[in-house]
Amino acid sequence: MRQFLSLRDHEQVTALAAQGLQLRQQPRAFAQLGAGLTMGLLFFNPSLRTRLSTQKAAQLLGMDCLPLDFGGQAWGIERAKGVVMDGDKAEHLIEAAGVLGRYCDVIGLRAFPSLSDREADYAESLLREFAAAAGVPVVNLESATRHPLQALADLMTIQQYRAPKPPKVVLTWAPHPKRLPQAVPNSFAEWMLAAGYELTIAQPPGYELAAERTAGARIEYDQDRALAGADFVYAKNWSAYGDYGHCPAVAEDWQLTATKMARTQGGKFMHCLPVRRNVVVSDAVLDGPQSLVLEQAENRVYAAQAVLKNIVEQLKSTSS
Ligand code: CP
Repeated sequence: MRQFLSLRDHEQVTALAAQGLQLRQQPRAFAQLGAGLTMGLLFFNPSLRTRLSTQKAAQLLGMDCLPLDFGGQAWGIERAKGVVMDGDKAEHLIEAAGVLGRYCDVIGLRAFPSLSDREADYAESLLREFAAAAGVPVVNLESATRHPLQALADLMTIQQYRAPKPPKVVLTWAPHPKRLPQAVPNSFAEWMLAAGYELTIAQPPGYELAAERTAGARIEYDQDRALAGADFVYAKNWSAYGDYGHCPAVAEDWQLTATKMARTQGGKFMHCLPVRRNVVVSDAVLDGPQSLVLEQAENRVYAAQAVLKNIVEQLKSTSS
């Protein structure tokens, strides 16, 4: 694996998830693989799980880590091409990425979308411009439209718990007080469909995701009907893709409750975290035995470790 920006960088999703689950059994089996290599962890936005799970994953492979927050710790970054930099931004992305590429062998980058310019967000221009200027493998730690490390951890969690038959998976929109990106649901849909799972996406009208990310999923506008017989229920809020970044009014209550979960087939509850209690999901579901949210969070370490292991092996094979 040369980089990990999206599903396209490793289409054997179930094999990669199996590698992650193997690493969960023996996390220190490759403790020297990355010795002498440095991982940069760069954040334009806040994070708890992604920051710490990726740092832990790199350390389990023997790598050193250089974390940096762009919001406060570093110079303000300019991205526009040909710009006269006489404003408040002191450094261009081209130099920042180039310098970081000199300090690091692998770079993880988190950069959320504008939610105002759909074309620019879906072009993933920041992630791609950064990767080109850095010149080293880049790992997507949640970009404008994708969160592949989360989706890999989610797939691992489903593989851990699923019955022998292919699981019935439901991704349901849920309420939230803020406008959120489509990155998590986009990647979850892509990875579930790539794994060959039966995926239903339940959402209120106006919240349809990009068709190219969800082709093959069943679309439902009735949450109760979608939940019937589900093995796994993934709740997540997202803002509209059509009326981009907006949040059309929703008449019904889409919060996931124990009553709604009773419609499933003993279904497990999933969420990427952080989660708004009693807005997205009720305490009873989140604290109940069907909740897998901590398993998902734990699997973030081994998902990142599987990805980094593949990248380090590729780096070593090309340098030898
Ligand atoms: N799920 C997830 O990405 O969590 P953080 O935003 O805390 O990294």
